[in-house]
Amino acid sequence: MTKRRQPLISAAMVLLFLSLPPPLLSASDDKEWDPISRFQNYLRINTAHPKPNYTAAVEYLTSFAATIPTLQTTIFYLTTPAKPLLLITWPGSDPSLPSILLNSHLDSVPAEPSKWQHHPFAAHRTGDGRIYARGAQDDKCIGMQYLEAIRELKRSSLDHTPLRTVHISYVPEEEIGGFDGMMKFVETREFQDLNVGFMLDEGQASVSDEFRVFYADRSPWHVVIRARGAPGHGSRMFDGGAVENLMKSVEMMMKFRETSFDLVKAGLAANSEVISVNPVFLNAGIKSNDGYVMNLQPSEAEAGFDIRLTPTADPDLMRRRIAEEWAPAWRNMTYEITEKGPLRDFKGRPLMTATDGSNPWWAVFNQAIAAAGGKLAKPEILASTTDARFLRQLGIPTLGFSPMKNTPILLHDHNEFLQDSVYLEGIKVYEHVIRLLSSFDETSVAKHDE
Ligand SMILES: *[C@@H]1O[C@H](CO)[C@@H](O)[C@H](O)[C@H]1NC(C)=O
Ligand SMILES: *[C@@H]1O[C@H](CO)[C@@H](O)[C@H](O)[C@H]1NC(C)=O
Ligand SMILES: [Zn+2]
Repeated sequence: MTKRRQPLISAAMVLLFLSLPPPLLSASDDKEWDPISRFQNYLRINTAHPKPNYTAAVEYLTSFAATIPTLQTTIFYLTTPAKPLLLITWPGSDPSLPSILLNSHLDSVPAEPSKWQHHPFAAHRTGDGRIYARGAQDDKCIGMQYLEAIRELKRSSLDHTPLRTVHISYVPEEEIGGFDGMMKFVETREFQDLNVGFMLDEGQASVSDEFRVFYADRSPWHVVIRARGAPGHGSRMFDGGAVENLMKSVEMMMKFRETSFDLVKAGLAANSEVISVNPVFLNAGIKSNDGYVMNLQPSEAEAGFDIRLTPTADPDLMRRRIAEEWAPAWRNMTYEITEKGPLRDFKGRPLMTATDGSNPWWAVFNQAIAAAGGKLAKPEILASTTDARFLRQLGIPTLGFSPMKNTPILLHDHNEFLQDSVYLEGIKVYEHVIRLLSSFDETSVAKHDE
């Protein structure tokens, strides 16, 4: 079920702004209308879990979009009215061509104000230009930069009109898996009708002078292993106790982890290029009033692991390893695997976007970064997971990119901040990226090649 907000409303809001009498535009109102203040205002909207205020964020973005000529807005309610998905559309001159989709998520992870130097929703800007806020890097920067870049492209003397239609999606729920957000959206008829040819999604900050770009994500599995065994007195030595059986498995899993991590530590692989297996909980013992019963060996024990599979990892091999080595029934163990998303696309291929001549969008993207005076680092696999996987599953080429260079990586961290000059430079980068992607004429390139 979706509900549409018609472009008429945008038109009405444009009129509203144009009809403001000049005296109302005092100096302080005027200040609202520079990109940094607009970014700060967006950051001040608390969309952190567990209670993200999506409505406020969507209202804010919608009213900003209404000030940019020709943009249309549509709001989708894929689950409940509390979880809107905003789509902003810049119509191209040839709507029959596959469109460009620029994605960002509305939500962010929680923040603990007491651990921050500045309140995480105050968006305080320090004297040296740091803007502190939850979401400053992940990923409210790109959400506003997309719009600011289009605003500039419309304002400049070029008055750019895209050949291809450009869509910006603002999706809820990414930070908790995207299941009530992008995953549902890509299943709709309306999404199919967008005819998306290429998507840009969030990336990560770069500590160097080069921008980072991501062509794949790792895919998370939540694995719980459980052991049962004969209970016994704390004084007795016997085989097959639950904790003993569990510890054998934990040792094997930690050995596997060590093998992966050694490759990383030896500099032979990036963190994101190996399968990670990290213990996240251990649970055993019989509770007593003042802790645990100490003279009893328990009959049950369990452990939980966050496992991240690389895009080329063989999921069947992993399942077999878990069933036969890490939680074998003969050792009286059971297990539960919760796969948090797809591993292969609709044709059974790994979820990876080509970064070579086989992907024409890659060349255009590169060209745009060069035109912006930027340099790209070697394409990477993202260590974590984003909504990009739902597009890659459909076979749509998707790159992860957030233009933040010379910036410490602070996503999900205390004191997340973004430098104002880095933010403004990002707008310039997107001006080039959006202009070139939206005017990319594949047919003329193909002819040229012949
Ligand atoms: C969300 O924000 C809007 C606008 O700022 C406010 O009116 C509303 O009360 C907020 N909702 C919640 C649940 O806090
Ligand atoms: C598994 O449980 C059975 C039945 O309690 C027991 O006889 C056997 O020794 C256990 N095996 C292991 C490896 O713990
Ligand atoms: Zn993010």
